[in-house]
Amino acid sequence: MSQKQLRGSMVGMGMIFDETYRPFFENAHHEGLFDRRFGDVDVQLTAVATRTGTRAEAYRDIAPDGMKNFVSSTGEDSVQELLKQSELDFVCVATPDDRHYEVAKEVLKAGKHLLVEKPSVLDLHQVDELAKLAKENNVLSKVVYHKLLDPDHKKLRTLVHDNILQHVNTGYCTLLEPKLISGSQFSEWITGRNPGTYVAVHYIKLIDFTFGGKLKTVTATGQRGLVGDKDGTTWDSVQQRLIYEYDDGREAAFDIHTSWVTPDNFPGYVEQEVQFRFDNGIWNGHSRKRGVELTVEEKTPFEMKQSINNHYNGTFVEPWGARSQRGYGIEVIERFARELAYVKHGGSAETELDRLSEIQRFSYNDLSADRQVVAAVHALEVILERAASGAPDGVVRVNDENGGLVLYLPGCAEPEVLYQPAV
Ligand SMILES: NC(=O)c1ccc[n+]([C@@H]2O[C@H](COP(=O)([O-])OP(=O)(O)OC[C@H]3O[C@@H](n4cnc5c(N)ncnc54)[C@H](O)[C@@H]3O)[C@@H](O)[C@H]2O)c1
Repeated sequence: MSQKQLRGSMVGMGMIFDETYRPFFENAHHEGLFDRRFGDVDVQLTAVATRTGTRAEAYRDIAPDGMKNFVSSTGEDSVQELLKQSELDFVCVATPDDRHYEVAKEVLKAGKHLLVEKPSVLDLHQVDELAKLAKENNVLSKVVYHKLLDPDHKKLRTLVHDNILQHVNTGYCTLLEPKLISGSQFSEWITGRNPGTYVAVHYIKLIDFTFGGKLKTVTATGQRGLVGDKDGTTWDSVQQRLIYEYDDGREAAFDIHTSWVTPDNFPGYVEQEVQFRFDNGIWNGHSRKRGVELTVEEKTPFEMKQSINNHYNGTFVEPWGARSQRGYGIEVIERFARELAYVKHGGSAETELDRLSEIQRFSYNDLSADRQVVAAVHALEVILERAASGAPDGVVRVNDENGGLVLYLPGCAEPEVLYQPAV
């Protein structure tokens, strides 16, 4: 076994653990990580923390030989227990959306490198606090945005970066999740939540990272009545609009439509479509209809789907006989592990801080570069909360004369400052 190691851990072992972290840890356990810059690095899943421990033990039963020895902590203090493992290098946080911040804070305070699921956090004050802790403790704090690694989105960004597609004007994106997500999968934490924060954030990051610019305005509306009460705080679907301004003073508007009440017999796992219009071009993308249509008697579209995304996270028998699970959803986690391996093992201990700041400069995944995305999420959360309490149609302006994030409600003379410093 290699002398160089990365000891990883998980907080939360739900759906996304099973889809992406589990295959990452299993692949890395089997093959290690190799790069000329850091050599051969052994990766272990050392510890896990979950609410009840049921999923941790279910995984232990099926984990490959050599991976069954992780320490499992449960209950209220599970994260503190996990962080007592002094040898730990990094912690992946995959708890429900509104439980990232508290866990991430503990991880950074303990001086461990952090990889947190999207949406990183729900409030700009929280992102400030986490960025400060990461800096003070000299650790990485990274967010998972796998859509940036989707080859189609990489191509979009390459065309924008190379100025072949010039000046985005407008865009629309839609991501519709099946009912089983809101019905059974998230039943423990669905109350008071919305599909916008859960999935629009993928597209907010794509837009923010690909086109740059300054976020100016956020508006949002949505529908209720299926997952929860029609007047309650739990949303079925959400429509959000973002206005950005670019260096030349021109603007672009983006509409992002999300839901988690699509019928379960929809032909794909999720519906995902985008259009971006430029001064000199147009990009139309459909992540579900990438060319495959599959029908299997008595299996599609429930047990198997008709239009399958083999790029995100597919299971295959490779041409050389091995079974594999691969795709950009797993690649994004491996990329984080490679960045960390470079920091830790890519040179002498004396130059580790230089490597750390080099990796902290990656704006695609560093928490410090997630401020506009968190601002859009923060605004969305507040607009929906006010709508549910009888004050709909709020508009949040970013960096105006009253503050960094300011809510304007129809009929209210006084704006409400949600975040005072500049975003
Ligand atoms: N990258 C993606 O495309 C993608 C896809 C799905 C989910 N996610 C994100 O991943 C996160 C988890 O989603 P999921 O689908 O796996 O949810 P899930 O409900 O299936 O699983 C949540 C897990 O967190 C654990 N948990 C809950 N509260 C905890 C706490 N306080 N301390 C420790 N463990 C706790 C639960 O025991 C469970 O194991 C969410 O933030 C979600 O937005 C990302």
